[in-house]
Parts: sequence; structure tokens; C-alpha cells
Amino acid sequence: MSIERFLTGITPSGTPHLGNYVGSIRPSVAASLRSDVQSFYFLADYHALIKTDDPARIQRSTLEIAASWLACGLDPDKVVFYRQSDVPEIPELTWFLSCVLGKGVLNRAHAYKAAVDKNNAAGLDPDADVNVGLFMYPVLMGADILMFNAHHVPVGRDQVQHIEMARDMANSFNHRYGVHFTLPEAAIEDNVATLPGLDGRKMSKSYDNTIPLFATREQLQKLIGAIVTDSKAPGEPKSTEGSALFQIYQAFASAEETRALQQAFADGISWRDAKQHVFERIDQEIAPLRANYLALMADPGKIEAIFKAGAAKARAIATPFMTELRHAVGLRDLRAQDAATAKSVKVALPVFKQYREADGQFYFKLQSAEGKLLLQSGAFGSPKVAGQSIAALQTQGAGALAELAGLVTLAEGVSAADIDGALQALREAKAESKTK
Ligand code: TRP
Repeated sequence: MSIERFLTGITPSGTPHLGNYVGSIRPSVAASLRSDVQSFYFLADYHALIKTDDPARIQRSTLEIAASWLACGLDPDKVVFYRQSDVPEIPELTWFLSCVLGKGVLNRAHAYKAAVDKNNAAGLDPDADVNVGLFMYPVLMGADILMFNAHHVPVGRDQVQHIEMARDMANSFNHRYGVHFTLPEAAIEDNVATLPGLDGRKMSKSYDNTIPLFATREQLQKLIGAIVTDSKAPGEPKSTEGSALFQIYQAFASAEETRALQQAFADGISWRDAKQHVFERIDQEIAPLRANYLALMADPGKIEAIFKAGAAKARAIATPFMTELRHAVGLRDLRAQDAATAKSVKVALPVFKQYREADGQFYFKLQSAEGKLLLQSGAFGSPKVAGQSIAALQTQGAGALAELAGLVTLAEGVSAADIDGALQALREAKAESKTK
């Protein structure tokens, strides 16, 4: 069995803050040290072009983010660490995938839909100020993932839809051209801490409440001093509940240290002393990383060289794979032997199975090409009614699930997109057999 591959993309469009460190960098670096997996980390700089047209900002952010990850212990010898734009096979694959993905799928992508909703609410043209890059974003992301046949993609909930779309593209491509792609799975990071920011809301660039990861010691002290607290006086007991300061501390401290601060809160520690204590604890963890960071920032040539080496590793995989894919779709050397043979791949298909149980009722289920249960129906009084539900699924795809609510259940771990992929494969196979 091949080793499991994890892939993580980071869009370089800002400066990392403590929330990014606790929620993403620190756990990812820890995971990258595992020897039983192969990890890919990349700077998604093509994605950054969608969000900003400031070239200096992209360059600066790419440097800062790369320096941050390396400073925090990402080891480029252990993982494949690269810059998306150093791998030209990725945009080429993006085109291949855009030719097997239905446009309607992209119409439903969250980021695009949010932009359209906003325009509609403002009474503007639905697509006002929406670039095609934003619309295509999930395809580029799909190419990032499928290029390296990643099994697992650690993401927040907001990105899960994109992983489902990547599965959709992989399914469609595999169906048309033979099995080339692994179906990726989202590894959802639910238990990862989200850090509150200065105002107590989630730390986020868009709330302007962040503490930069590599602020100087002095800035760090000042910013921690600016975290909101209630107005309890020194000597008054303080509640840890809902205290942003306490939560931030918890993300850095051991269980024992956390209990000690909890006690100090109960004993009426002043906010001033509490903040000083939190500052010192955070700085204790960050100071050595900050020193690494400053050294790296002073030597961009070193990071450039690391990226070049990473690109060579990535392309050692991507270039031959792309050659295989070009051949598969028919972009071939004209002298190649099988140039004239028609599409000959035989692919197993998903299947509907109808049956009757001992209770005398009629049921059906949908199985994947690999024989895995995707969808199970409830009981129907007659085979005809069961057949109507099947027909609705066959013609409308996962769109029929809403009207069949209560009549069918998705198997565990199966998403609407998986159902859509399977039904699409069936429709395509049917359409094809008609043209033959
Ligand atoms: N879209 C991701 C984000 O904004 C970044 C990203 C781009 C990514 N390509 C990816 C993440 C591939 C995982 C896999 O956070």
C-alpha cells in the first residue's frame, strides 16, 4: 500500500498572526514531522492573484509566510515545500479539469455565490467586479490537490466544499479517461483552537484585531496589554469564562500553568499583572522562533533556494504525471502506436440495486463502482414507486435528494457531491452507449 499523502496550501495574502500560528502553523508543523506520511506544503500564489493586484504585497507575503513556516520548524528536507507558481503543470491541469467539470457546480461555490449575493443585495449586476479567477478558484484548487494525488487535505469547514468539488473533478476525469486520480478527502480541523483577537472576537485580519506572530517583543507586550478585559479592580476575583486573555494563555500554556492562572484569577490578580504573565509565557515560546524568522527574512536568497529545491521535488512527480495525463486525453505524439485507437478504457460503474425484503416491502440502494454503499432507500409499497425515486435521481442527480428527503439516506461519510459524481458517471455512460 502506498504511503498516505497530506497536502496543505497557504494563500500568501497577508502577515501571519498568532491565530494562524495556533490554528494552522503549529499543528501542521507537528504533523509534518510524522514519518508515516508524505506531506506537501505550498504557497498558493496563483490563488493570491485573485484577491490582490498589488505585486509588492504578494512578493512580501510569500516571503513572510515562507519564513514563518520555516522558522516554526517546517523541515524542507522532510516535506515537499514549494511555491505553486514554480509548478507550471498545475495551471495546465487546471485546464484539463475545467473541461470535465460542469459550470453549474462552480455557480454553487461559496466564494462566488457570496460575491453574487452581495451584488444582488446592492442592486448591482450579479457578476459586478467578479473576476473569472474567483469563479475558477475551486478548479485551480482541485488541480493543486489532484496533481499530487493527495489522500488527505487538512482544511477548515469553509473549504470542505472545494474538496468535494475536487473529488467531483477526479471522478469525472477518471470516468472519461481511465483511473488516474485518487479521490481526496477533507481532513476537517474541528478540534483546532481558534484564538480570540484583541476585541474578543475570533482573531482575523478582517476584524483588524490580530497580534502579528512575529511582532517585536515590545510590540507583543503592547498588544497583549490592549486585549479587552472587564473593569474589575485588582483584588477582585476575575472570571476566566469569556476572557480572551485567558483563552490566549491557554493556547500556549500547559494544563498545570493554566490551572495556576485560573487560581490567580480567582484570587484577584490585577489585569496588569495577568497581562504581563501572559506576555512572558507567549514570548517564551515565540522568542526563539522570532530569531529564526528574522534570520530568514534577512536572507531571501536562502528561501528562494529552498523553493527551487522544492519545485524540483514537486516537478519530479508532476512532470511525468502530466505526460501521462496528456496522453490519456489525446494530446499525443502523432507517431504514437495507439494514436488511432478509439477510447478503449472500460471503467466500472456505480449501480442501483432494487430488492424486496422479508417484510414484503421494496427497497433500493446505490453502490459506487467499487461496491461501497452510497445511498440506501427506505421501504416502498411497490417497485413502481421505488423506480420513480430512482428515476428522479437518474435525471436530476443529487438535486433530487431534497425532494426525496425521508425516503433515502446517504451512507455514512458520503456527501451529496459523491452522489452527484456517481449519478453523473451513470448518465455519461448511458449517453455514450447511445452514441455507439
Ligand atoms: N484555498 C485555500 C485557502 O484559502 C488555500 C489553498 C489553495 C489550498 N489551494 C489549496 C488549501 C489546496 C488546500 C489544498 O485557505
